[in-house]
Amino acid sequence: MYFYPSKFIMQTLLITGGAGFIGSHLTRLFVQKYPHYKIINLDALTYAGNLSNLKDIENAPNYFFVKGDVADAALVNKLFAEHSITGVLHCAAESHVDRSISDPLAFVKTNVVGTATLLLAAKESWKADYSNKVFYHISTDEVYGSLGSTGFFYENTAYDPRSPYSASKASSDHFVRAFYHTYGLPVKISNCSNNYGPYHFPEKLIPLSINNIIQNKPLPIYGKGENVRDWLFVEDHVRAIDIIYHKGKIGETYNIGGHNEWTNLNLIKELCRQMDQKLGREAGSSEKLISFVKDRAGHDLRYAIDATKLKDELGWMPSLQFEEGLNKTIDWYLSNQQWLSDVVSGHYADYYEEQYHKR
Ligand code: NAD
Ligand code: DAU
Repeated sequence: MYFYPSKFIMQTLLITGGAGFIGSHLTRLFVQKYPHYKIINLDALTYAGNLSNLKDIENAPNYFFVKGDVADAALVNKLFAEHSITGVLHCAAESHVDRSISDPLAFVKTNVVGTATLLLAAKESWKADYSNKVFYHISTDEVYGSLGSTGFFYENTAYDPRSPYSASKASSDHFVRAFYHTYGLPVKISNCSNNYGPYHFPEKLIPLSINNIIQNKPLPIYGKGENVRDWLFVEDHVRAIDIIYHKGKIGETYNIGGHNEWTNLNLIKELCRQMDQKLGREAGSSEKLISFVKDRAGHDLRYAIDATKLKDELGWMPSLQFEEGLNKTIDWYLSNQQWLSDVVSGHYADYYEEQYHKR
């Protein structure tokens, strides 16, 4: 019989979307940092989910994988019934804005119906005793809409989603709060800015550009490249989730952001500069690949998070400067080109053709 130190409380956590970009970093952190927790990863393994993201922990004794859809009520109810789940870290989502423009209903199904399905299962399973239970919903800053050249998103900024993706995430956030107010379900929400780092699927700006630079392919920049995003290294995001999960207040929302704003054009220029050095190419050669293409429909101009609440209440701050995080990210992609070529095989070519050559 193994005895855990009394300060450790045994928990069974359901992480959804653990085979995706952020979910895989989150699952790795929890599996390694909390060996006394049982971690169940529920993931449908869509195009964005990849079990090779979790190769290093797949045999850990406290880690279990279940392939399935968060909108499958029978499966989700069964997991709650069989595993005495005490916490949910809900990461699973359709996450790409461009795909939401061509297929909005897929976003309603996973992001709205899937979240409501999980909430109902948690409510039913926990209703006899809500103590020591947490339903943590991982959300995005895009629910707040688009900023002009000044100002920040605060936790009390009114919601103003403008893409099918952000509308579906806003709806899921509303359902989470509704379950808190109506049924007293113990919930927490965080809204984070743009993440970057290893295992990021190359449909998103940074990994797509890294992949294209490696292959000397054009770097598609929407519009004039003036849109601004606030970038945060993914390991800093999951560190914030860990702190909020364990120490954040029930019913509260926390903004997470990097205080690190870049226009898309300046960001890609910095990426080109670093990659020319690493690939031993002449300075300025990757920048020549920049290609301005038709703008994204309804393209939000600027996102910028004020994360003061998280810093003041829970002491979280980003740990990495952007140039350093980007440097680490590029190194990871250059050392993991097999991962990159595996994830761009199959349907990726069709997606790329549809997205960039038929616009
Ligand atoms: P991702 O697309 O890389 O991964 C999503 C994961 O969810 C994949 O493993 C996929 O297989 C799984 N999934 C999709 N539909 C599912 C379903 N119906 N049932 C079960 N699993 C399903 O996404 P990501 O970038 O890691 O984002 C994770 C979460 O973080 C999302 O909720 C997203 O809204 C949020 N978020 C992302 C960012 C970012 O910059 N990437 C920033 C803030 C918030
Ligand atoms: O802000 C958080 C959000 O960040 C998350 O909720 C989303 O899941 C995540 O995908 C991300 O959304 P963005 O739309 O900001 O990320 P993306 O990488 O798609 O685009 C970043 C910026 O780059 C955006 O202004 C659009 C632009 N862009 C993107 C692509 C893919 C280009 O100029 N060219 C491209 O090819």
